[in-house]
Amino acid sequence: MIPIASTVKEVRAIIAGWKKEGLSVGLAPTMGYLHEGHQSLIEQAAKDNDRVVASIFVNPMQFGPNEDLANYPRDLERDLARCESAGAHLVFHPEPVVMYPPEFHTTVEVSELTTGLCGKSRPTHFLGVCTVVCKLFNIIAPDRAYFGQKDAQQLAVIKRMARDLDIPVEVIGCPIVREPDGLAKSSRNAYLQPDERTAARVLNRSLRLAEEAVAAGERDSQILMSIIRDVMTAESRVRIDYIEIVDPNSMRPLPRLEGSVLIAVAAYVGKARLLDNTVVNV
Ligand code: PAJ
Repeated sequence: MIPIASTVKEVRAIIAGWKKEGLSVGLAPTMGYLHEGHQSLIEQAAKDNDRVVASIFVNPMQFGPNEDLANYPRDLERDLARCESAGAHLVFHPEPVVMYPPEFHTTVEVSELTTGLCGKSRPTHFLGVCTVVCKLFNIIAPDRAYFGQKDAQQLAVIKRMARDLDIPVEVIGCPIVREPDGLAKSSRNAYLQPDERTAARVLNRSLRLAEEAVAAGERDSQILMSIIRDVMTAESRVRIDYIEIVDPNSMRPLPRLEGSVLIAVAAYVGKARLLDNTVVNV
């Protein structure tokens, strides 16, 4: 069975032993209920590093007051097996009180990049993400840390945080893992009823249509966004949160496509808020 550490002291003792032997350490942070997307991060970490830590922590600080913290899906036994089969050597699974002891008063805020896209409908989300990921970086001191391109804004924000705070970690983005019909894998797909699951395919389908328009020469962001909007609004079970065309590093909106461009969508389908995106190079 894969070892589990649940306190900062325990995990640091194990990692100190590895570092003493000169072994490199990769970290894949997760909130559990693992699927192949999470596993792909662990697998990449196992290729690049001598030792891999997967963290499983449903971080209360990144959920808004009316969000799904209490109902967030959990299955630790299954997660441990998945971590092990993907190549992790240790799971860090702290209780909330370990990460946020009484009299906890410090947060990490990345400005600018966090105001648009997901930051608009989730104004305190990235504060929670950055605080917990900064703590994980300090606790585990990984050489490399792995994040999914599915959460493209999160990846950009974490890269910026590590750079701005001089955290000596290489932040590595990994490609989106999808279901056979194109839906991006997500722990929140578990919330979808069968008819909603079918409707959710429209996120990826609309992005593919935008990619086709780009390939045919379209460079106007408004036109591309309206192509996506038209396809998505045709699905009555889908409520658009945002459709954005931005610079993938700064998250600034781009009126015209030039260079590397992130086309990102978020939508509510039943109880789930789902994300998808694509990066096009023109
Ligand atoms: P969670 O949603 O569990 O995702 C953990 C990591 O898995 C993130 O880096 C996410 O981008 C990646 N991931 C999720 N679905 C993916 C997919 N289909 N393909 C590739 N990668 C995928 O993101 C979080 O947790 C939290 O915000 C966290 C970073 C752990 C901080 O609490």
